[in-house]
Formats: sequence, structure tokens, C-alpha cells
Amino acid sequence: MAAYTLKINGGEHRVDVDPQTPLLWAIRDGAGLTGTKYGCGVAQCGACTVHVDGQPMRSCALPVSAVGTSEITTIEGIKSREAQAVQKAWVALDVPQCGYCQSGQIMSAASLLELNPKPTDNDIDLAMNGNICRCATYVRIRAAIHDAAKSLEG
Ligand code: FES
Ligand code: FES
Repeated sequence: MAAYTLKINGGEHRVDVDPQTPLLWAIRDGAGLTGTKYGCGVAQCGACTVHVDGQPMRSCALPVSAVGTSEITTIEGIKSREAQAVQKAWVALDVPQCGYCQSGQIMSAASLLELNPKPTDNDIDLAMNGNICRCATYVRIRAAIHDAAKSLEG
């Protein structure tokens, strides 16, 4: 066991865990932020996506000992213009079905718009490729990303 102080959503959270513990469990069990979900546990589904220093990362595959002083942002803490536009579009288009994958989807979508304010269908498919939805909400996800991009214009 070892103690780590993680920077999550602008605050500090101390966790006492084995160094190999995935960041996901430090976020969920250590910091009590349960919006980030466990899906596959092997970096294949995207349910556990968080931002690490602004980049989307699979928290199930990142040992807590590798995080250091990086700023971690979870679904509970995203505040950028792009993230807000994405969340608004998600509600307007009623994107989620069961909802399980959706915090990961939103984290990836917000990152995409931060990098590329006007993504094409192809850009969206590439950026969202690693976020699996067992309810197959992909058509609404794509439409919501276009809507969010449009709302950010000008
Ligand atoms: S739970 Fe991390 S990618 Fe599936
Ligand atoms: S909304 Fe059910 S898994 Fe995506």
C-alpha cells in the first residue's frame, strides 16, 4: 500500500492503495466519484474515460502510481464550454438509453470538440471509436456532437 494525493476536479483526494491499483478505483472508491463507470477493465470499451491533463484516458488501464501530479477531470467536474454544449445537446436529443456508457461518451465528445470545433462524421466516428455502447445510441451521439458544435459557432 502507498499514499497518493490525486488532483481531481480541482480538489485533492488522498488515497491509500496498492501502486498498481487502476485510477478508476481510486476515483470511485477513494474519492467517491461514481460517475465514471467500470465496463471491460481492459481499455476496450471507454466507459471509464476521464481526462488526464486534458486528454481522454481509460482510467481502468492507468495505474494510480503513474498519475503523479496530473490534473484529472471526471464527468462530475467537466466545465469547459465544449463540455457544457455537449451535455446540453445530450439532453436535448435524449441520447442515453440505459446510460451506462454515457459519461465516457461525453468525456470523449467534449475532448473531440476541444480539439476540433467542427468535426465531420468521419472525425466523430474516429474520435468516438473506442467508446462502445451496448444500446447502440451511436446515431444520436453523432447528431448531438454536431448540434453541440453548431451551438458553439460564433
Ligand atoms: S472499463 Fe476502461 S475501457 Fe472499459
Ligand atoms: S446507453 Fe446503454 S450502453 Fe450506452
